[in-house]
Amino acid sequence: MKFFVDTADVAAIAELNDLGMVDGVTTNPSLILKSGRDIIEVTREICGLVEGPVSAEVVATKADAMIAEGRKLAEIAPNIAVKLPLTWDGLKACKVLTSEGRMVNVTLCFSANQALLAAKAGASFISPFIGRLDDITLDGTDLIAEIRTIYDNYGFETEILAASIRSVNHVREVALIGADVMTAPPDVIRKLASHPLTDAGLQTFLKDWEKTGQKIL
Ligand code: G3P
Repeated sequence: MKFFVDTADVAAIAELNDLGMVDGVTTNPSLILKSGRDIIEVTREICGLVEGPVSAEVVATKADAMIAEGRKLAEIAPNIAVKLPLTWDGLKACKVLTSEGRMVNVTLCFSANQALLAAKAGASFISPFIGRLDDITLDGTDLIAEIRTIYDNYGFETEILAASIRSVNHVREVALIGADVMTAPPDVIRKLASHPLTDAGLQTFLKDWEKTGQKIL
């Protein structure tokens, strides 16, 4: 499963990228707001750091304007994936932009039928938001499983990009289901390394080592 990092925080991306943990980046208008940066400048900086797809989201709501914004964002770098909302206009823009050979990430997906439409419109990625489904007491990971089955039934090549990941359990669940990609905030990716038994075991080893009186260096 590929790891995308869901942030516009350049320092956090750089740290994870140095560890080989970043196969791509996703941003959205809320994350650009949080960064306090200009969208074009920060996205260009991220594209310079990361080789994989970097999603940059349009804010227009009509297809023609979405296409124009998407073309402008795609000029930033060859690894831009234009992010479009899963609306009828977004699907129209998806068809046009993918026909031009651009990567498109269709976002704000909350149903299997929406994911089916995105695949038929040629999306490179579909982003089902699992945390936001959990927020309204539905099961976000069920949606990932449904989309996996549908895409495999018909051989759609659109990659399932599990988004709105809030916890390490979400990561495990979508990996077990077979999501192609997951995008998570940097702190969730860092928490994947944590386990209380690792911490407790390390403490025991260090105490016993001290008792030996030895040094390695
Ligand atoms: O990738 C989408 C993500 O940024 C949304 O996450 O936590 O705001 O639902 P969240």
